[in-house]
Amino acid sequence: MYFCRMEKILFVCLGNICRSPMAEFIMKKMVNDRGLEAEFEIASAATSDEVIGYDIYPPAKDALRKHGIPFTGRGARQVTDSDYQYYDHIFVMDWQNLRDMKSRFSDADGKIQMLMSLAGKEREIPDPWYTGDFESTYKDICEALECFLDGR
Ligand code: 4NP
Repeated sequence: MYFCRMEKILFVCLGNICRSPMAEFIMKKMVNDRGLEAEFEIASAATSDEVIGYDIYPPAKDALRKHGIPFTGRGARQVTDSDYQYYDHIFVMDWQNLRDMKSRFSDADGKIQMLMSLAGKEREIPDPWYTGDFESTYKDICEALECFLDGR
C-alpha cells in the first residue's frame, strides 16, 4: 500500500508580510499545479514582532497577482516555540533570519536552511521592503522552489 507522509514546510523572514508569504503562496500554487497538495502543509512566519497581524504588503500582493499566484488575506505571525518541532523544513531568506532562528532553536535536527541554498546558491533573498524589487524576489523564490520540487 502506498503511504504518503505529509511534508510540513515553514517559510520565515523578518516581517512575514513580503518574502515568506510570497514563498508560501508561490509554493502552494506549484504544489497544486503538480497535483501534490495532499503531500504538503505550507505556512510562513516572522522572526520579529514588528508587523504582527498585518496582511501581505500591497506591492507583494501585486507581484503575486501579476504572476497569477492565488493568495488569501492573512495576518503576519511570529515564529513560536512549537514551530521547530512541528515543521520538517524551515526555509529562511537571509543571514540575519538564519542567525535569529539558529540562536533561538539551535537546530539539532538540521531543519533550518537558507531558501536559495535549494538552488545551490549561498546567498540571501534581499528584502524587497528595502529594495522595492518584488520581481527579483518572485524570481528568486521560484528558482529555489522549482529546484526543491524537481529534486524530490
Ligand atoms: P519581509 O520584509 O521580512 O520580507 O516580510 C519586511 C517587512 C516589514 C518590515 C521589515 C521587513 N518591517 O520592519 O516592518
